[in-house]
Amino acid sequence: MSMHLSDFNELPSHVWPSNACREDDGTVAIAGVSLPEIVEKYGTPVMIFDEDDFRSRCRDMAQAFHGARNVHYASKAMLSTRIVHWVNDEGLSLDVASLNELLIALRAGFPAEHITVHGNTKNREFLRHCVAAHVGHVVLDAPGELVELNEIAAELGRKQPVLVRVTPGVDAHTHEFIATSHEDQKFGFSLAAGDAWQAIVDAHQANNLDLHGIHCHVGSQVFDADGFKLAADRLLELFARVHQDLGLQLPILDLGGGYGVPYLADDSELDIAAIAEDLLTAVHNKAAFLGIEPPKVVVEPGRALVGPAAVTVYEVGTDKNVQIDEGRYRRYLAVDGGMSDNIRPALYGAEYDARVVSRFTDGHQKSTRLVGAHCESGDILIPDFACPADVRTGDLMGLAVTGAYCYPMSSRYNAFTRPAVVSVRDGRAELMLRRETIEDLLSLEVMRDAD
Ligand code: LLP
Repeated sequence: MSMHLSDFNELPSHVWPSNACREDDGTVAIAGVSLPEIVEKYGTPVMIFDEDDFRSRCRDMAQAFHGARNVHYASKAMLSTRIVHWVNDEGLSLDVASLNELLIALRAGFPAEHITVHGNTKNREFLRHCVAAHVGHVVLDAPGELVELNEIAAELGRKQPVLVRVTPGVDAHTHEFIATSHEDQKFGFSLAAGDAWQAIVDAHQANNLDLHGIHCHVGSQVFDADGFKLAADRLLELFARVHQDLGLQLPILDLGGGYGVPYLADDSELDIAAIAEDLLTAVHNKAAFLGIEPPKVVVEPGRALVGPAAVTVYEVGTDKNVQIDEGRYRRYLAVDGGMSDNIRPALYGAEYDARVVSRFTDGHQKSTRLVGAHCESGDILIPDFACPADVRTGDLMGLAVTGAYCYPMSSRYNAFTRPAVVSVRDGRAELMLRRETIEDLLSLEVMRDAD
C-alpha cells in the first residue's frame, strides 16, 4: 500500500458527500453537523444523507438530460417519504419497481402521472393499483402481463399508457448480477428473437393500452458509455420499423439507469453532462438518418443521484491479529454493523472508502480487514485497506457512498435491526427513518395459546 500517513485523515472529495469536511478538532461534519454528535443522539450504525448533495446531483442530471421530468429517480436505490419529497421538489419523475415502492411514493404525495412502474412479474393486484392510481407508464415485461393489464384497464374504464421493455443485447461490462441487457436473463422482450416486435404489435392492438415508447436498461454501475449509445442505436431502428409498419411515431425512448459512481479514492468520475450530450446528439442524428421524429430521451438513474450523498457510521469494536499462515498475521477490525446494512461487498465484491470520523488518526498504517458483527465469516466490509495502527475500539468509522442499495437491501440477519437514517442540511440533522427496535422484530410474532 502506498498511502501516506496523512492520507487517512483526508476525505476524497469525489467520494465523500460534497458538504463533508474534517474540522480542526479532527471530527468529520456533513453540512455543518458533527458526525459524532449525530451518533450520540441516534446511535450506530447510522446512515447520514447530505440533502444538498442529493439535490444538486438531481439538478445536474436534469440539466444534462434537458429537463427534470426526463429524469426518473430510480427509487429502488433508496426510498423514503423525505427522499420522495426531495425528488418532487426538484421536479424529477420517479421510477418504482414494486407495489410497495409505488404505495410509498403515492402516500408521500408524488404525482402518479410522473411515475413509471417496473417489475418483471407484476401480479393483478399490482397492475390494478397502477391503473387505479393513473400512473404515468407501466413498463411491460412479459406477454401475459400485457394481456392482464389490458383486461384490468378495460374493467376500470381506462386506457393505460405503456412502454415495452426491450433487451437490445448489449454487454454492460459490469457485474453479472447487475447487467440486464444481454440475452438469457429475466427482464424484458428480446430484440434479436423478435419478441420485442411482437410485444409492440400486441400493445398497439390492445384496446385499453396506449403505447408511448420503448424502454431498456443496460445494467448498473456502468462506466462504458458506449453501451448506452449502442442500445439507443438499436432501439431507434425499432422506432423506425414501428413508424414504417404501424404508422406510429412513438414519443419516448427510455434508456434506463446505470451511470456508475466512484467508490474509492482512485476511481474516476463519469462526466455525465458530456455523456448525455453525446447520447442526445447521437439519438438526433440516428433519427434524422432513419427519417423519423427523434423521440424524447428519458433516463432512470438511482445510484448516481443518491449513492455518493450518504455515509454509514459504525462504532469500532474488537481489534485482533489473526495468523493467516506461518508468522504472517492479518489485523481484523470489527464494527457494529456489516452485511445486514450493507450486503454489497459480500454480494458483488463492492469496495468502499473508510475513514475514522471521530478524530485524527496517526501511526504506522497496517493492512487491515474491516469486518462486520454477523455470525458469518463472509461478513467482510473491506477485505484489505491501509488503516492507521492507532485506530481502536470506540472510534467511529465512516464508509462513504452507501446511499444507494444499502438500506433497501438491508436484512435482519442475526436479528439485527435496521439502522437509523438521518438527513443533514444547513447545520441541522433530522431523523428520516428511525432505528428499528427489538419491539419491531417481536411485533411480527404470532403467539398461539401454547407459546
Ligand atoms: N432502471 C431500471 C429498469 C433498473 O433495473 C435499475 C436498476 C435502474 C433504473 C437504476 O440503476 P442505477 O442508475 O441505480 O444503476 N443492487 C445493485 C444494483 C441493482 C440495480 C437494479 N436495477 C447494487 O447494489 O449495485
